Amino acid sequence: MFDASRRTLVVVGAQWGDEGKGKLVDVIAERADWVVRYQGGANAGHTVHIGDKKVVLHQIPSGIMHPGVRCAIGNGVVLDPEKLFSEIDGLVRDGIDVTGRLYVSERAHLVMPYHKLMDGASTASKAIGTTGRGIGPTYEDKVARRGVRVLDLRNPVRLRTLVEAGVANANGRLALMNCDTRADVDETMVALAQITARLLALADDVGLQIHRALKTGAAVLLEGAQGSMLDIDHGTYPYVTSSNTTAGGAAIGAGIAPTALHAVLGVVKAYTTRVGAGPLPTEFGEPMQTEMRTLGNEFGATTGRPRRCGWFDAVVVRFAARVNGLTDLAVTKLDVLDTLQRIAICTGYMVDGDVHTEFPADLALLEHAEPVYEWYEGWQQSTADCRSLEALPRNARLYLDRIEELCETRITFVSVGTRRDQMIGMEAGVV
Ligand code: IMP
Ligand code: MG
Repeated sequence: MFDASRRTLVVVGAQWGDEGKGKLVDVIAERADWVVRYQGGANAGHTVHIGDKKVVLHQIPSGIMHPGVRCAIGNGVVLDPEKLFSEIDGLVRDGIDVTGRLYVSERAHLVMPYHKLMDGASTASKAIGTTGRGIGPTYEDKVARRGVRVLDLRNPVRLRTLVEAGVANANGRLALMNCDTRADVDETMVALAQITARLLALADDVGLQIHRALKTGAAVLLEGAQGSMLDIDHGTYPYVTSSNTTAGGAAIGAGIAPTALHAVLGVVKAYTTRVGAGPLPTEFGEPMQTEMRTLGNEFGATTGRPRRCGWFDAVVVRFAARVNGLTDLAVTKLDVLDTLQRIAICTGYMVDGDVHTEFPADLALLEHAEPVYEWYEGWQQSTADCRSLEALPRNARLYLDRIEELCETRITFVSVGTRRDQMIGMEAGVV
């Protein structure tokens, strides 16, 4: 994926998250010098399988499994320090040393205990089905210019002033939400004192570091979290997360220039899933819903919630290809479809007799939309051991060819299982 003309690669989810970005980043990171997370926070759950071991990363970039790779959490991330430390401790227990190769942007905003309280108490958060990790309230404070950044930990006086503003706002909101719990300035300061030294030891100007690395010819992988349809601007608003998950967010959130981005790999499942509320035009009814959830083990890596499943939606992925400028596509979990007799791809939405082939901004249009499907014969044999496109059953190749055509993006990777080696890489030497 990396060569002289493609030294920065953005990896984004091109559906509603959980596309398997963790595995792709882990595989590609072998050839990277840096891996950077640029938005979201502990709402993400990126799963990496090494041998029999399963590691779920929430904030640490999925490149951390490779000893020589430097990992950074960019300014666009909202950081939960305690969760970061328990993630680091978990990695150390698994024999992965992060010393000297994990950096946190000093500009990143901190998720405070009161942000989690607010996310938990909010009926709006419940209606959207947020992960409850305080992500939305932290971004709200960031935009309202009362957020607490990592660098504020260096100045206790300034920190207290910011915490006072944050707590006052939080308590006002909690009262309005009829929640009895209140945040407390002193308690918050005590909690912050406990994380300060360890976090400041990781703090750095991440944008500057990457800029310097790029000048020396380093390969940088920018790891997106969630998916394009959860993007605050381009997703199914208001059923979205609070950050720009799409490739444009990578430059902002890593602190590098948009002109420094060279390629964008969109990761998609061979079908579609979503966690939480909001439109999912191709959603299965029963019994297919339960069948696919079981086949694909579709339960959230962060919250354990059952994921909603549906057929592959080419309208969604073509939209994602456009807003992200996808140069490549990775199709994951192809093996989950191995046993199905028939498989569908959605090519448009029928609304009042008209077929719409572009994803609408106004979700009201989707309320009466009927997906238009193309049906394909299943291949009904295992793809788990296939390591090249040629080795795939003919029907699987036809299915992938059609996805490539409809989404107007070439497929560069196909994943056929959870293990690192269960990957077809179309570029020589990639996997
Ligand atoms: P929040 O990001 O916790 O505010 O949640 C907003 C919406 O994004 C909810 O529908 C969540 O289920 C969804 N969401 C957040 N993070 C992820 C993720 O990593 N994968 C899939 N869905 C997510
Ligand atoms: Mg996930």
